[in-house]
Amino acid sequence: MFFQGHRKFCSNSDVVTPAGISAQQIPAVLVAAPRYFKGRGRPTSTRLSSLSRCINDSLLLSSLSSSTDTSPIRSVRYLVLFSIVFRNGDSHSTISSPIEPERFTLHKRYGPVVRLGPAEILFSSLSAQRQIYGGFERTSFYRMFDVYGRQNLFTISSTKDHSRRKKMLHHAYSKTAILNFASSDCIVQRVDDVLNLIEKSTKREVEIYSAMLFYSLDITHFLYGAELATHALRGNKAHQSMLDDQRDPARRKMAWFSTHMKWYVRWLANQTGAVERVLDFLGFYPQRKPFVYTGIREYALKVYYDYKPSAEATIIGRLKSFPELDDLDIASECADHFLAGINTTADTLFFMLWILSRPENKSMQDRLIDELHHSGLRGTPSPKDLSRANIPYFDVVVQETLRLYAPLPASEPRVSSKHTQINNYLVPAHTIISCQPYTLHRNPSIFTNPETFLPERWLSDDPELKRRWWAFSSGGRMCIGEQYCLLWG
Ligand code: HEM
Repeated sequence: MFFQGHRKFCSNSDVVTPAGISAQQIPAVLVAAPRYFKGRGRPTSTRLSSLSRCINDSLLLSSLSSSTDTSPIRSVRYLVLFSIVFRNGDSHSTISSPIEPERFTLHKRYGPVVRLGPAEILFSSLSAQRQIYGGFERTSFYRMFDVYGRQNLFTISSTKDHSRRKKMLHHAYSKTAILNFASSDCIVQRVDDVLNLIEKSTKREVEIYSAMLFYSLDITHFLYGAELATHALRGNKAHQSMLDDQRDPARRKMAWFSTHMKWYVRWLANQTGAVERVLDFLGFYPQRKPFVYTGIREYALKVYYDYKPSAEATIIGRLKSFPELDDLDIASECADHFLAGINTTADTLFFMLWILSRPENKSMQDRLIDELHHSGLRGTPSPKDLSRANIPYFDVVVQETLRLYAPLPASEPRVSSKHTQINNYLVPAHTIISCQPYTLHRNPSIFTNPETFLPERWLSDDPELKRRWWAFSSGGRMCIGEQYCLLWG
């Protein structure tokens, strides 16, 4: 997942200042920079000359600041330059290279507070993380995950509306509900399906990522019930093809266009027949149809209409009991959970299998096998069996996988409608603020040798480590599917 910048251009007073320093004391470029980038699309000659002027201003200020100024605002100046040169004023473009390692490098260089653009700041301290995720609202970035034009738990920004929706779902995703799901034997069947798929493979290698995607797709049984569950692992081609778009590398390019040129993608999506063929021939499609998640969204809508009430305690059944939600609200909510659970779960499982398969980690694999052999578990254990078993090494392997390979490693943008003080900086209203798991999970003062996969680190029971583990986010907007993943995934 990647994030777009929320283009809120700041005024003179909208400048990040260390507490106690007024906006007037901040060099002009910080305030002026946004003007140069108000337009979008191909840079015109005027905008190009503005660009070079802005870069010069920034360079000048950077060099001045390095000799005379020791205030924390120095890093802020640098980032204006960074944002312009490398991001063309848009700090969330992922088209060229992954953002998370770059942002991590910026933290290493400039400390826990880094200004990424005219109105965007990235934090990496625990106190900032707690404050930001303790009540700030989601930015409009999340609206690209609206489904069928309707908002859902993931995309609702207002705290009040969100808590109303969350109340409807919270219980269904609790540990007790997940463990007591009447059809939880479907998990055992799915695990057996994966093992059969591997055993039946005629080749020496198995394309494990697809197997993990099919598994993650099929366990969404929980959402819709047995009647409407998918059977990708058992070879249902239509169900498998729902994931074709996600296995296509062009989806990154598509994601960029969907974020920055929504209108274009919408227009392309509506073209059919000869026009579509010509556009395709000319290379106008960032990705061949179906676009990312199109298949899944179509399936989710069809399933919504095919759903018939049953005794199973499914998510769709639960949502249908709230009269204030109409058809599309419910379909959107289910489709979002459907989408949320697939790549995240598949990536985690895939990375876990891959890292354990590395020759240098053979001892970990042996230890894990040994622990499972001595745990008393027999056959394919159910989630309930696993949750009762004493398998601490298994738990820390999962935890370490989610630390080093967090499926959502990027910034989780939030915004406040009021001026706020965070880490001694006065952050103006409407500034985008965030932390990213990628950085938090690599803090060397907490995680020794942070780039090394070391499940044993968690066996120490150091509470500080646990406090810094942030794979599912925190606060009111943390992942509702955490228990589902840990118990079913
Ligand atoms: C390993 C698997 C998963 C990871 C690491 C993960 C991680 C996250 C994170 C970090 C967020 C917060 C994102 C943000 O604020 O920007 C989130 C939110 C969310 N996740 Fe997950 N997720 C996983 C699986 C799932 C599954 C399986 C489901 C549903 C079945 C799910 C449903 C949701 C929903 C609905 C939200 C929005 C919650 C809210 O705003 O109240 N996730 N997830």
